[in-house]
Amino acid sequence: MPENKRSIIVLISGNGTNLQALIDNCKSGKIPGKITHVISSSAKAYGLERASKADIPTTVHRLYTYYKGIPREDKKNRAKARAKFDKDLSTLILNKLGKPDLIVCAGWMLILSSEFLKPMEAADVPIINLHPALPGAFEGTHAIERSWDAGQKGIVNKGGCMIHYVIEQVDRGKPLIVKEIPVIKGETVDDFEARIHAQEHVAIVEGTVEVLEGLNAQEK
Ligand code: GAR
Repeated sequence: MPENKRSIIVLISGNGTNLQALIDNCKSGKIPGKITHVISSSAKAYGLERASKADIPTTVHRLYTYYKGIPREDKKNRAKARAKFDKDLSTLILNKLGKPDLIVCAGWMLILSSEFLKPMEAADVPIINLHPALPGAFEGTHAIERSWDAGQKGIVNKGGCMIHYVIEQVDRGKPLIVKEIPVIKGETVDDFEARIHAQEHVAIVEGTVEVLEGLNAQEK
């Protein structure tokens, strides 16, 4: 491994097919970087196995642990626990694992608040996220189902995915890579989802390459 490879920390919550695309393209040399750690918000995420198979160390950082014993109605203490979860995530990355060149959210299903974003900004660590919808459309959860539904109802004529910089407004940061797919009338949601995922696996690699090459260019 050449010394000059950029370090990447990947945040996941589930299957990890996008993590796999990153692993494969780091290995092939297309991405000028190395995944130094994978953090999962779920202990059951299959992406953890993908990381282990590629000899990448992993950490599980679960929100459930922070909410344990706090009733749903106790909004004040839930909010405090949520903030501590994000703060501890930033401490884990910056103080324990070591500051990476880039953080990639590849199917990370939790909103990252200022408790996490501010320390990362202060440390000058860029964060990018994959979202399965086009800029300005279907922010938040279940974006694939919602955009498929809108397509089938004739409200939109395309769907897609994007890689964008992460800011506090959910899925609203500056887009880096946008991939569009046309709506196909009568298509099942599963087939639509498969077409989105195929685009995601390309987009996440392109977005990661773009950020890392940008960092390399800045240093020249
Ligand atoms: C992807 O479809 C990604 O766009 C989505 O989670 C999936 C993760 O798949 N992310 C979001 O919806 C974030 N708002 P993977 O675990 O197989 O990479």
